[in-house]
Amino acid sequence: MSLDQIDVYDPGRYVQGLPHDEFRILRAQAPVFHHRDPEREAGFWAVTRHADVVHISRSPDQFSSNRETCLLPELTPEALAEQQLMMVNQDPPEHTRLRSLVNRGFTPRMIGRLTEKIRTSCEKIVDRAIEAGEGDFVKICAAELPLVVIAELIGVPHEDRHRLFNWSNRMLASDDPELSADAADQQAAAMEAYAYANELGAARRGCPADDILTKLVTADENGHELSEMEFDLFFILLMVAGNETTRNAISGGMQALLDHPEQWEKLRAGRSDPAVLTRAADEIVRWVSPVMGFRRTTTTDVVLGGQPIAAGEKVVMYYSSANYDESVFADPYRFDIGRDPNPHVGFGGGGPHFCLGKHLAMREIELMLETLVTRLDRVEPIAPARRLRSNFINGVKEMPVRFVPE
Ligand code: HEM
Repeated sequence: MSLDQIDVYDPGRYVQGLPHDEFRILRAQAPVFHHRDPEREAGFWAVTRHADVVHISRSPDQFSSNRETCLLPELTPEALAEQQLMMVNQDPPEHTRLRSLVNRGFTPRMIGRLTEKIRTSCEKIVDRAIEAGEGDFVKICAAELPLVVIAELIGVPHEDRHRLFNWSNRMLASDDPELSADAADQQAAAMEAYAYANELGAARRGCPADDILTKLVTADENGHELSEMEFDLFFILLMVAGNETTRNAISGGMQALLDHPEQWEKLRAGRSDPAVLTRAADEIVRWVSPVMGFRRTTTTDVVLGGQPIAAGEKVVMYYSSANYDESVFADPYRFDIGRDPNPHVGFGGGGPHFCLGKHLAMREIELMLETLVTRLDRVEPIAPARRLRSNFINGVKEMPVRFVPE
């Protein structure tokens, strides 16, 4: 394949899996590659090597997040202006202010307190799967857990969690014609979620408790607090950032274990060792790269990997390529749940925007793996999985399986 045939933008390209051949060619021949973009005449720079992804992530002064969002690409200009206020689209120092306010809710202590709830949720989910005998793994196992956890985290009553699911799906940047909503519906879903977040925030301000939601709606020790709008936007960011990503890490991880049955056995044998579970979860995030890439915009003329890039250009960091960079990972196309070290960039390449929910997501994946290998002898595919048509989220839409208990 020659460089002019490369297309890692077309969402249809991802229906069969990650385009490993194309990424391999790019890393070897054109690691900072000027790519066509059907929506922008100027195109964009596709960055595929691990070292360059890390460099961009840690240089927010040269690579800005504060440009049109890549999370919700089809928004109206008004909605877009609002999205710009989200932390994910901000640069320091404004980003630093928002991030330090929300960090308070995501400390190891706060996540630790959720662990038993996550474990109980995993057990309930897997017990229901066993009762059903067979069905769609994505729906029964992978989609349910992140939803219950986010609902728990921000104090959404259990019975309302399917509303979160509905909003999050409608707002998602999926290009999949079966799932995607039009811009008006995305906006409507965002408005419903705002109204809901407002009610939730107001209730907690009136009745504070020792929970994350209270931390998010009250002032810190310096008297700084999120405005009402910032809280509402953060609520939406959590829904979008925390659900689809974790869901696809769990589904994609199950898919990898089905394709590598010896790794399932290895996991079963080591399940009582937390370090085994952590390494397995890391390898799953590397292998799946649930968020395939993120964009930045250059603030100044830069030279990246020897390639000059002018100010104001769009740069896309491909985590899904960097995670298979052969100069960093030995035998990168081998799925190895014992891989150590594993400096993957599945949660970002470091720097100020590094995934806020990493510890939470890791805990969810670890506990779901532990529960699956403890309660099940095996999982058997009963029909081919169907994948999401998206160039942003590496997703499994449906995975029909049989659950075979111990
Ligand atoms: C940011 C991946 C789960 C909340 C990010 C970024 C990536 C990522 C790649 C961008 C990093 C950057 O630009 O440098 C993932 C993956 C997940 C996951 C693969 C699951 C396996 C979660 C969860 C939550 C969450 C569970 C929340 C409960 C966020 C937020 C940001 C973010 C709020 C924006 C941070 C900022 O801009 O400062 N995530 N994420 N993520 N993630 Fe996650």
